[in-house]
Amino acid sequence: MNELLRILMLEDNPAHAELAKHALTASGLKFDAQRVETRRDFEQELAAHTPDLVLSDYSLPAFDGIDALRIAQCLAPDIPFIFLTGTLGEDVAIETLKIGATDYVLKKHLARLGPSVRRALRETAERRERCAAEKKLQQSNEQLRALSAYLQHVREEERIRISRQVHDELGQALTGLKLDVASLISRLPKHSRGLRGRAHALSDCIDATIQTVRRISTELRPGILDNLGLAAAIEWQAQEFQQKTGIVCATTTTVADTLWNQRFTTTFFRIFQEILTNIIRHASASRVEVFLGVENERLVLRVTDNGRGISEAEVAGDKSIGLIGIRERAALLLGEVVFAGRPGLGTTVTVGIPLASAEPLPGRTP
Ligand SMILES: Nc1ncnc2c1ncn2[C@@H]1O[C@H](COP(=O)(O)OP(=O)(O)OP(=O)(O)O)[C@@H](O)[C@H]1O
Ligand SMILES: [Mg+2]
Repeated sequence: MNELLRILMLEDNPAHAELAKHALTASGLKFDAQRVETRRDFEQELAAHTPDLVLSDYSLPAFDGIDALRIAQCLAPDIPFIFLTGTLGEDVAIETLKIGATDYVLKKHLARLGPSVRRALRETAERRERCAAEKKLQQSNEQLRALSAYLQHVREEERIRISRQVHDELGQALTGLKLDVASLISRLPKHSRGLRGRAHALSDCIDATIQTVRRISTELRPGILDNLGLAAAIEWQAQEFQQKTGIVCATTTTVADTLWNQRFTTTFFRIFQEILTNIIRHASASRVEVFLGVENERLVLRVTDNGRGISEAEVAGDKSIGLIGIRERAALLLGEVVFAGRPGLGTTVTVGIPLASAEPLPGRTP
C-alpha cells in the first residue's frame, strides 16, 4: 500500500493508541492516525475528513462502541470499522459483526491488527470495484433499453410514413389511371372488341393493384388503430387472423377508449400481432380467446389458445427473442407480461400496462 492511510482512532487512552500505532507501523503500514475521544470530535472528524478506516475502542467513557459504529455507518457508510478492545465476549463480538463491524481485534493480540486492517482495506476496495462494475452494467442496460425504445419508435414512425405514402400517393395515382382507362373505354368504337377486352383487363388489373396497395398499407399500419382506437383494431386483427388461418378467434373488449396515446395503443397492438404470429407458428391451436379490458388500473390484454401449451423452458429461454421483445415493449411502459402454458391444453399470455402510462394526447380530454 503506497498511499498514506488515514486512520481515525476512537480511543480514550493515549497509551493504548500509541501501542496500536506501533503495531501498525511494525506491520509495514504507512498511515496518518487521528485520535479522538468524544462523540462530537468523532462525528466532526468523520464528516470533515472522511478517513480510510476507523479503529474504535469498544468501551468508552462517554458512549459505547455500538453507538460509534452506528454513527460511522450513518456518516461514512462505506468505510471499514474495526473494534480494538481490551475484552470482548464472544457473543458481543459476533453481535458487532452482525450489525456491520468489519472485524474486532483484542488489545492483547495486537499483532493481528495489521493483517486485519489490510484485509479490511482490500475487501472494501473489492466491494467498491464491484459496485462500480454493477453501476456500469446497470447504466449500459439502461442505455440499451433507451436505444431499443428509440428504435421501436423510429420503426413505427417509418411504418406510418410509408403506409401513408403508399396509400395516398400510389392509391391516388392508381385511381387516376382507373378513371383514364374508363374514359378511354367509353370512347373506343363499339366494334373494336379486341381493344375493348384488353382495356377492361387493364382496368381489372388496376383494381387488383389498388387492393394490393391497400393491403400493404394496412399491414404496415392499420388506419383503424389511429382512427377507431385500440379495441376496434384488436377486433379487426382478430377477424383477419381468423379469416387467414381458419382458427376461431373470439374477442371480448370491455373498453372503447380512443384517447390513449399512440405509444400505448401501438404497444398493445404490436404485442397482439406477435402473440398471434406465435400461435400460428407454434401452438397448433383451433381456438383463440382474446380479452381486452381494465383491471386494477391497468389495461389488460389476455390471449388464450387451446394449443400444445408453451413450456417453462421456452418461456425462460434466452433465445426466445420474440417473447423478450414482447416483455421489453411492455416494460418500456412499466407493464408486465406473463406467459403461462399447460401441456396439451394451451397457452395464456397476459399483458398488463398501467393506465398511467397512457396519458391522453395533448389537447384531447377523456
Ligand atoms: N402460443 C404458443 N404455444 C406454444 N408454444 C409457443 C407459443 N408461443 C411461443 N411458443 C414457444 O416459445 C418459443 C419462443 O417464442 P418466440 O416468439 O420468442 O420465438 P419464435 O417465435 O420461435 O421466433 P421469433 O423470434 O421469430 O418470434 C417458440 O419457439 C415456441 O417454441
Ligand atoms: Mg415469435
